[in-house]
Amino acid sequence: MFGVKNLTFKYPKNKQNTINGVTFKIKEGEVFGLLGPSGVGKSTTQKILIKLLHKYSGEVLYKGDDIKSYGKNFYQEIGVGFEMPVHFSKLTANENLNFFKKLYKANANTDYLLKRVGLYDDRNKKVSDYSKGMKGRLNFVRALLNNPKILFLDEPTNGLDPKNARIVKDIIKEFKQKGGTVLLTTHLMNDVDELCDRVAFMADGKIAEIDTVKNLKVKYGQRKVDIEYKNHETLEKESFDLNHLGMNEKFLRIIKTKEIITMHSKETSLDDIFIKVTGVEKHG
Ligand SMILES: Nc1ncnc2c1ncn2[C@@H]1O[C@H](COP(=O)(O)OP(=O)(O)OP(=O)(O)O)[C@@H](O)[C@H]1O
Ligand SMILES: [Mg+2]
Repeated sequence: MFGVKNLTFKYPKNKQNTINGVTFKIKEGEVFGLLGPSGVGKSTTQKILIKLLHKYSGEVLYKGDDIKSYGKNFYQEIGVGFEMPVHFSKLTANENLNFFKKLYKANANTDYLLKRVGLYDDRNKKVSDYSKGMKGRLNFVRALLNNPKILFLDEPTNGLDPKNARIVKDIIKEFKQKGGTVLLTTHLMNDVDELCDRVAFMADGKIAEIDTVKNLKVKYGQRKVDIEYKNHETLEKESFDLNHLGMNEKFLRIIKTKEIITMHSKETSLDDIFIKVTGVEKHG
C-alpha cells in the first residue's frame, strides 16, 4: 500500500538529518508498527507519508504511484490521528466533526463512533471543556471520519484509561478485519503485541529491525526457564536453557529432589527487543 525507499529528511532548522535512509513497505490489510525511542523520527516519518512535510529525498509510493503525484484526493482515502490533537476548542465536539466531515466525500456514522468511545453524551460540550483523554478520543473519531482505507495513528491510546484504550484497540482491530491498513506508532509494547502484524524499530534515523512480531520473538528469544527452589532453609535461584532441558542433569536433580517454589519460562518481551534493537531505554 505504501512503499518507502531510502527516505531521508532534515528539518530546515537542524544540522543533521532526522531520517537517514529509511526503507520499508506497508502491506494492504496489515497493522504496521513504527516504533522506536522518543525523538527518533516516527512522527516525522508519518508526516512525510501523509504529505505534510515535502522536502525529503528518496521515494514514497502510495499504491504504486509517487505521493507527489496525488492531489487533495489523497486525503479522501487516509485517516489521520495526530500525536497532538488539534481541535477547534471553541466549538463543540459535534461541530468539530461536522466541520471536518464537509471536507470529505464519504462520511462515517460519527454518532455511532461517539457512542463507542463514550463521548456521545458530551457531544455538545465545547472541546475547551474536554479532558485530555476526551480530546484524545475525539481525535481518534476524527481519524475515522471519512471511512478511510488506511489509518495513520500516532500514539492513539496515549493518555487513555484502560477501558477507553480497550475500546480504541477494539475499533482498530475491527478496522483491520474489514480490510483496512494501519500505520501505528506507540510506546506501549502490549498494544504492539495485540495489534501489530509487522513492526519496524527505528534507531539513529534508520530502520534497525523490521519483521513480524512473531519472528522477532523467535530471533531475540531467550528460551530459558527460571526456577526458585528450597535448598535446606535457603531459597536458591537457577536459570536453565530450554533446549535439551530433559537431559540437563542439574535441572532434573532439582525437580526430583527439591521443593520448587516458582518456575517460569522466560519469553522475550517486546520491551526486551525494543531495548536490544534500539540500544536505548525507551522514554515517554
Ligand atoms: N518542527 C521541527 N523542527 C525541528 N526539529 C524537529 C521538528 N519536529 C521534530 N523535530 C526533531 O526531529 C526529531 C524527531 O522528532 P519526531 O517528533 O519525529 O520524534 P518521535 O519519534 O515521534 O518521538 P516521540 O516518541 O517523542 O513522539 C527530534 O529530534 C525532534 O526534536
Ligand atoms: Mg512522535
